[in-house]
Amino acid sequence: MQLLDGKFASEKIKLEIAAEAAEFLASSGRQPHLLAILVGNDGGSETYVASKMKNCEKVGFKSSLIRYDDSVTEEELLQKIAEINADKGVDGLIVQLPLPKHIDPEKVTEAIDYRKDVDGFHPVNLGRMMRNLPCFIPATPYGIMLLLKAYEIDTIGKHCVVVGRSNIVGSPMSILMARNANPGNCTVTLTHSKTANLKELALQADIIVAAIGKKNFVTADMVKPGAVIIDVGINRETSATTKSGFKLYGDVDFENVAPLASWITPVPGGVGLMTIVGLLKNTLASAKKEIYPD
Ligand code: GUN
Repeated sequence: MQLLDGKFASEKIKLEIAAEAAEFLASSGRQPHLLAILVGNDGGSETYVASKMKNCEKVGFKSSLIRYDDSVTEEELLQKIAEINADKGVDGLIVQLPLPKHIDPEKVTEAIDYRKDVDGFHPVNLGRMMRNLPCFIPATPYGIMLLLKAYEIDTIGKHCVVVGRSNIVGSPMSILMARNANPGNCTVTLTHSKTANLKELALQADIIVAAIGKKNFVTADMVKPGAVIIDVGINRETSATTKSGFKLYGDVDFENVAPLASWITPVPGGVGLMTIVGLLKNTLASAKKEIYPD
């Protein structure tokens, strides 16, 4: 078994991003700028947004955070998004999910100008991705593709089983792995909570992408020896033994699956770090107007 080391790959790519950001600053006189909106006090979201902001600074981007209390109205949030859409000094706008129940995430996602949608969640970006057109690819699937590329994992003609059909990870991941590209060119099976024979399907997989949000969901009896395992899960549990008071678990039973796998991502230290790289690359591409020229 070998590790698909998100720390190693992400640090290497961040150096490239930092060099490009410095060039952009020299030629344009400004830094790429990511603005995040965070609503409420969800512990996981706090951690992820803080990490996004910190990484922006590391690569020479400007970052801004706008915080709202849980009680913010949908209208107030939509108004702020419209204001940021019109601000030429902001290249990327993300609203951290999940949102409180009284706010419709679909409305929020569609309110963001697709040209600043560096999360790649807007229907225009998802639609363009389906059609193989230039677009912002959702940050986590983008990061996974970069990780597969960094380690030159052979995906052509392989059977990829994606576990989980979320808009953020599972669904776009299934599209990307099936595309005529490298990485890509897989035969893809998209499985989910209602899949009848998930274990049998997983056992046929050369590549498993686990993104179902359940601790240790993928167990050793579901994995073919030699399979490549991508663990997208970030399941937080309180812990008395860690400094933060939390411990992270993936969707894969790492201890028992790792000996079977040819390659596997650790949690933490795998996909999570690559997600940030995907977001940074989208933000840089937005600043440089590489995807949408105007
Ligand atoms: N919540 C979980 N993952 C993500 C992400 O990639 N972007 C945003 N905005 N919210 C999330």
